Amino acid sequence: MHEELCCDSLWFGADLVTMRAGRYNLIRNGAIAVHGDKIVWVGPYAEAGHLRAERRHELDGGIVTPGLVDCHTHLVFGGDRSAEFEQRLNGASYSEIAAQGGGILSTVRATRQASLTQLVAGARFRMERLLAEGVTTVEIKSGYGLDRESELRMLRAIRELATTLPVQIRATCLAAHATPPEFSDNPDGWIDLICNDLLPQVAAEGLADAVDAFCEHLAFSPQQVTRLFEAAVRLGLPVKLHAEQLSPLGGSTLAARFNALSADHLEYATESDVAAMAQSGTLAVLLPGAFYLLREKQRPPVELFRRYKVPMALASDANPGTSPALSLRLMLNMGCTLFGMTPEEALAGVTLNGAKALGLGDTQGSLEPGKFADFVHWPLAHPAELAYWLGGELPCKVIFRGEVR
Ligand code: NIG
Ligand code: FE
Repeated sequence: MHEELCCDSLWFGADLVTMRAGRYNLIRNGAIAVHGDKIVWVGPYAEAGHLRAERRHELDGGIVTPGLVDCHTHLVFGGDRSAEFEQRLNGASYSEIAAQGGGILSTVRATRQASLTQLVAGARFRMERLLAEGVTTVEIKSGYGLDRESELRMLRAIRELATTLPVQIRATCLAAHATPPEFSDNPDGWIDLICNDLLPQVAAEGLADAVDAFCEHLAFSPQQVTRLFEAAVRLGLPVKLHAEQLSPLGGSTLAARFNALSADHLEYATESDVAAMAQSGTLAVLLPGAFYLLREKQRPPVELFRRYKVPMALASDANPGTSPALSLRLMLNMGCTLFGMTPEEALAGVTLNGAKALGLGDTQGSLEPGKFADFVHWPLAHPAELAYWLGGELPCKVIFRGEVR
């Protein structure tokens, strides 16, 4: 017999997909005890007799998963790029459009014109779509301002969103997303400005939880990213990197050298990149939305990530150019159908591994005592259904920090 345990609420009557250690680790007819905003006990309902709960919530069958984590988004931006989608389908490539001043820079123009209130309102609309599908933690990047004030405005918009929506938000400074038009002849000057001026202010105001960059021919070189990362390290900010999306530049090895939280995209990552990531504990964040929308052919080396035991996270990359994704569940499906992940790996990618990619693996991403009480009740029989159903709505009940959202 266990000793009596008092708690605020007890949830029972459903199968628990705990995602402990990144596996389903299913508990049939389980129970979750919540006290305050934390999970205090998880186990089979038959063993929950010692729990004394103020409130009891009987779930009528179905499954419970951890709250979903979307660890890579660009949800704050002005305008949209549906016209470029159309241009690409008329034959232009992503790189050509970018070289003509479109692409990221067209969103930069629209974002610079948007007020803080407009940025928050636009992002809130998109965020609500994600939340309706069980997302409880989301990362959002800056990177469409590309001048000091507009980057700060984006980061403030991200912080403001966090105060008005029931979701945990991590902010990432992606000022090194593209070269601003004002620096087109001097991209190193923009990197200097980020390192010496923008990042110190961002750090002083606590506006970002991490620093990111786009390491690519049409963005920044490994040398430029190195300077940026050195500045981030000096300020105590963790780093992550858009790497190996369109070509192999060794960005993921560079990220590993800086003990990056994650390297993201990775279609062109090589075996030595993967080995370096394994050694530094850098996660692989896979983004099938961008792969799909750009109709890429080269798939990320999922088999190598498995072999080297590099945990794979999966995210929406929600952005106006390459992944106008409003559904993380659709990314589960694409992670499986396009990249060959198993449904269990895909679910780990948006729960425990998504949390780890944000440095939050100790507090969320699985149903375990001590973690935040963020979980989702789905009217499904098996967790593979989360990756299986294609589109449509799956009504779900979301518990965020112990309360029904
Ligand atoms: O993650 N790769 C760079 N950044 C975004 C795309 C940005 C854009 O085209 O607006 C991405 O895919
Ligand atoms: Fe991205």
